[in-house]
Amino acid sequence: MKFKNKTVWITGASSGIGEEMAYAFAKEGANLILSARRETALKAVKAKCPKPDQVFLLPLDLMKEDEMPAKVQMALTKVPQIDVLVNNGGISQRAKVLETDMEVYHRLMDVNYFGTVALTKALLPHFIANQSGQFVVTSSLMGKFSAPFRSGYAGAKHALHGFFDGLRSEYYDDGVRVTMICPGYVSTDISRNSLSGSGDKHGEMDEKTAQGITAKECAEKIVKATYKQKEEVYIGKTEILAIYMKRFFPSLLSKIVRKVQVK
Ligand SMILES: NC(=O)c1ccc[n+]([C@@H]2O[C@H](COP(=O)([O-])OP(=O)(O)OC[C@H]3O[C@@H](n4cnc5c(N)ncnc54)[C@H](OP(=O)(O)O)[C@@H]3O)[C@@H](O)[C@H]2O)c1
Repeated sequence: MKFKNKTVWITGASSGIGEEMAYAFAKEGANLILSARRETALKAVKAKCPKPDQVFLLPLDLMKEDEMPAKVQMALTKVPQIDVLVNNGGISQRAKVLETDMEVYHRLMDVNYFGTVALTKALLPHFIANQSGQFVVTSSLMGKFSAPFRSGYAGAKHALHGFFDGLRSEYYDDGVRVTMICPGYVSTDISRNSLSGSGDKHGEMDEKTAQGITAKECAEKIVKATYKQKEEVYIGKTEILAIYMKRFFPSLLSKIVRKVQVK
């Protein structure tokens, strides 16, 4: 029971990796706060947790950054202490640069970056007051390099690394820890829910995403990395080798990314 008597708050908990993280953290004894926009889906996740009475639902929309301080206050009326915030809610993109409206670029930044930054900033004083707390962030391999059809998504995920690496160094002495999670392909609805160039749902399951690891496997690895307070982890199949290629042979990776089918 790695998280007994700990409270873990997960955003994007209504489906995919976030949903599986709810089950995996609950299995390790954690009390949960689950957030996303779809309350009905959150209720279904709560019902499937081993102890639903230890699960609180707090629907929120990451697009509404002004509401994040109030959401933190609400969370702290439900539980006395929050130990871990898993910033997992996010949305991807499937369109080339010239086909992507500026409004879509803003939406990708608002959900993936500014909403996460606002929620994190609102919770940080609580962690500092406790001299303890951990931010876990579901970034992506797209937070470390980029690929076709994902320029805005990769931009937002790269920005998360800049923000959280800075926060980690500023508040380390206050007991605040940061764990960046970089998954490769995980078989969820991420590509179906992705934004097209005009902002509609892409609506299609990518072949590579379908062949990815399961959300359950990804979630279990995230729970382990959180427990060990790892600074950054890469989760997936052979695609994670691209991280090392980017570091040591960047132009080789560029060539490969240009040629392989990334959808
Ligand atoms: N699957 C992959 O291959 C993969 C790879 C690398 C990284 N990731 C990252 O993993 C995270 C989870 O994605 P997933 O694969 O599990 O896909 P998913 O099933 O589409 O889950 C996305 C989650 O984010 C929530 N969300 C989306 N927009 C939101 C908003 N405006 N406000 C609050 N919550 C919002 C969704 O809930 P509601 O719709 O109910 O709001 C849902 O719970 C994302 O950050 C994604 O970028 C996924």
